[in-house]
Amino acid sequence: MNNSIIRGRVLTFKRMPNSNFDTESYTYIEDGALFIENGIISKLGSFKEVKATISEKITIYDHRPLLIVPGFIDTHLHFPQIQIIGSYAANLLEWLNTYTYIEEQKYKEPLHGEFMAKEFFNTLINYGTTTAAAFCTIHPESVEAFFTESHRRNMLMIGGKVMMDQNAPIKLLDTPKSGYDDTKMLINKWHGVGRQYYAISPRFAVTSTPLQLEMSQTLVNEHPDCYLQTHLSENKDELALVKKLYPDYKDYTGIYEHYNLLGSRSLFGHCIHLSNREVAVMSETKSVAVFCPTSNLFLGSGLFDLQHLSKQKHPVRVATATDIGGGTNCSMLKTMDEAYKVLQLQGQRLSPIESFYQITLGNACALSLENKIGTLAIESDADITILNSRATPLMKIRMQTVKSLAEELFILQTMGDDRSIAQVYIKGKPSKKTSLA
Ligand code: GUN
Ligand code: ZN
Repeated sequence: MNNSIIRGRVLTFKRMPNSNFDTESYTYIEDGALFIENGIISKLGSFKEVKATISEKITIYDHRPLLIVPGFIDTHLHFPQIQIIGSYAANLLEWLNTYTYIEEQKYKEPLHGEFMAKEFFNTLINYGTTTAAAFCTIHPESVEAFFTESHRRNMLMIGGKVMMDQNAPIKLLDTPKSGYDDTKMLINKWHGVGRQYYAISPRFAVTSTPLQLEMSQTLVNEHPDCYLQTHLSENKDELALVKKLYPDYKDYTGIYEHYNLLGSRSLFGHCIHLSNREVAVMSETKSVAVFCPTSNLFLGSGLFDLQHLSKQKHPVRVATATDIGGGTNCSMLKTMDEAYKVLQLQGQRLSPIESFYQITLGNACALSLENKIGTLAIESDADITILNSRATPLMKIRMQTVKSLAEELFILQTMGDDRSIAQVYIKGKPSKKTSLA
């Protein structure tokens, strides 16, 4: 048996909060504890209560006074792009053509993918992220490297081979048939193996012909329990190019709609310039719009309009993500810091209570994984992040004036980064190399 107690200030959400003062939406225990049995949370309560029920001699990880929260979830990023973060470009298309499509060619080489997969998962853990939905490259080798390393670490990951058969360098193109065959092979090999899940991944309408989108539809029909991930309505020049390539459709979303790619397991990165009709169809089909604030600001793509998408009668499901390497920071704390600013610029509000809900249970719900991750509820997987709100000298000073949990969370979001991640547990196993506590 591999059992332990994790002690500290426990914070976990029960449902989406409706304001900064919605204390009913979460559980917070000042001297709290989790009992972990074989990687699953089997008890949650005060340390005294939890300890009293256990007679065996047991390892206690005492993190007081730090915060214990569910591991963060990043719902959209690119595994092969960690070495092009911060590449200077005027906009999305220039960035893709100048850096991204060059970088991704390196992943044909299995050794490169294997080396980078180690760096990638080390990085995620360093930043407190325990689950991610990632694009690999068009090379099946990159997907092999991704899942092999994730499986070895027992991390819950979603990944997929990018499909592109037009408008990219020839070395990065597959064909509708090879994209289908490779995807099928990888689904059969990896989907449902341990904690690995497959995402069918046509990159976006710019780089897929109608035939490839049709093949994607066939894959979705044949594997309805896989995810689908792609990009939608990120940048104005992209929209114009899509209109030129697909002139007969009502709008950008209408293309994916035509190929039946919308649905409750479909993740659409960006969704910045959607019309009312597109928002309505996204909502109707329960599709997920993924807000990637650091990327949207860095590439000058635009401001994600949360109000338009989710604060209305028929809301669209929304998730948040880093979009590394268009995004500039692997931290989900920094991501919410920038999300807050994007909404500020539009006169919209996002409270820290809502932010912490979003990067844990909110993103788990967007992936329909709320029964497994994003929560510290009993029977959940023990993927846990330990947060230090006093990780830097300035945070220490700032924390002296903080009077409430919501204020503390806001400091973590605004001033925190990987330095605030004291430890990370993957299925109950301490996994961060340099622990601060
Ligand atoms: N659209 C198509 N591919 C990409 C990508 O790699 N990053 C971003 N941000 N947008 C895209
Ligand atoms: Zn992306």
